[in-house]
Amino acid sequence: MNSKKAYLKSFGCQMNAFDTEVIAALLTEKGCTITEDPEEADIIIVNTCSIRKHAEIRAINWLHNLSRHENATLVVCGCMAQKKGENLKKLVPGIDIISGPDNYSQLVSILSGELSKIPYTLLLGRNHDTTYKLPTTQQQHGKPSRFLSITRGCENFCTYCVVPYLRGKLRSKDPETVIDEINMMELSGVKEVTLLGQNVMAYQYGKVDFMNLMRIILEKTDLHRIRFLTTHPKDVTMNLFSLMAENSRVCPHIHLPLQSGSNRILKLMGRKYTREEYIFIVEEARKIVPDLAISTDIIVGFPTEEESDFQDTIEVIELARFDSAFTFKYSPREGTSAFRMDNNVAAATKKNRLAYLNKKLKEIRLDIFRQLSGKNFKILLDGRIKKGKYQYIKGRTPHFRNVIVKPGKLSEGEIIDVKLQELNGFTYTGEEI
Ligand code: SAH
Ligand code: SF4
Ligand code: F3S
Repeated sequence: MNSKKAYLKSFGCQMNAFDTEVIAALLTEKGCTITEDPEEADIIIVNTCSIRKHAEIRAINWLHNLSRHENATLVVCGCMAQKKGENLKKLVPGIDIISGPDNYSQLVSILSGELSKIPYTLLLGRNHDTTYKLPTTQQQHGKPSRFLSITRGCENFCTYCVVPYLRGKLRSKDPETVIDEINMMELSGVKEVTLLGQNVMAYQYGKVDFMNLMRIILEKTDLHRIRFLTTHPKDVTMNLFSLMAENSRVCPHIHLPLQSGSNRILKLMGRKYTREEYIFIVEEARKIVPDLAISTDIIVGFPTEEESDFQDTIEVIELARFDSAFTFKYSPREGTSAFRMDNNVAAATKKNRLAYLNKKLKEIRLDIFRQLSGKNFKILLDGRIKKGKYQYIKGRTPHFRNVIVKPGKLSEGEIIDVKLQELNGFTYTGEEI
């Protein structure tokens, strides 16, 4: 397939983004080239998400658009492919291959002509051992910051969530594979890796748990920065923050999804922690890492959520002072246990709660950001942007905050010291010091 060109589009979480990179890398290994332009593609791959109704609608709209390219092989993969299977073919008749998240090696073999596909192919088998490894040939990626999945699947079954049904059982990647992948990334100039899992705290490979894995990575790689996403509050332990405090290579940022600040709703969600436990983690963590940045996910309008439950959430965000947050209106997902509960919060109430929550979160965020003016941080330069007529180079502080600087002789991949000057939105302009 030497001359074949593939276009890939990824929806959903960072784990999906990592899978898309793996598929792209496996295709490249087979001689394919990757294109940014669907018009010139022989293979079009859309990696989909089913987390909320809206995510599915977006992907289906894309598929409709892309199915115009009749000569290209159209592939739908990821969570919505696993969920809807053959029904997708009815929605978008131009689809040639439907592949679930456990079937990407087979998918690449079909696309490269090693296995046949007649007349169209469904790859939905479950393989609870699959953990994908980036191929070693894939060294020239060019980005200084990369994602790396260390677990797949989830067995928490939060009552609103489809992930356990679509991604299957929890499995952890061999630490040796993780080290190989990081070393390979480092050869291509990677300075920062974000370890991914639906709950990285659940990582367990033989006797190696997440804390052991972090220590192995610190010892066996030269990575300048290590991040991780996501940590479930029920499993977070204080030694994680001690590791951050002891080691500047572990970034002082944690994504700690709250979901709700009401104990009654947390219980209905099956989250297995209370608001008091959540607040305890935040307070204790900040005693160990005083400048810790905490981000979160929050759902409004879960079945039976009353105004008082919502106010409980507002109270927790005021105490926790989140650096950033992803907020969502509850979206009923068929097959989950919350789907059987009465989705009784009116659409308008959900909308108002979301708007109020976002307003409060923004005020807190702005307050945190304003206090950073004039302070010095190390930033990892990871891309270029244009603002008005000026070119800037952009980077992130260890806390994952955006900073832009005048490029001068600077280039991506460098880590520089900057003084924060002017805040625009939530991005600081900085000056190299
Ligand atoms: N594994 C992560 C979450 C992954 S999904 C964790 O345990 O926190 C990302 C976010 O989507 C969730 O944190 C949740 O806030 C949101 N989400 C998941 N299912 C949802 C649903 N049915 N409706 C609205 N938001 C949902
Ligand atoms: Fe979904 Fe809960 Fe698993 Fe996160 S921990 S992926 S919210 S079931
Ligand atoms: Fe979406 Fe699947 Fe990720 S449902 S959020 S792409 S695990």
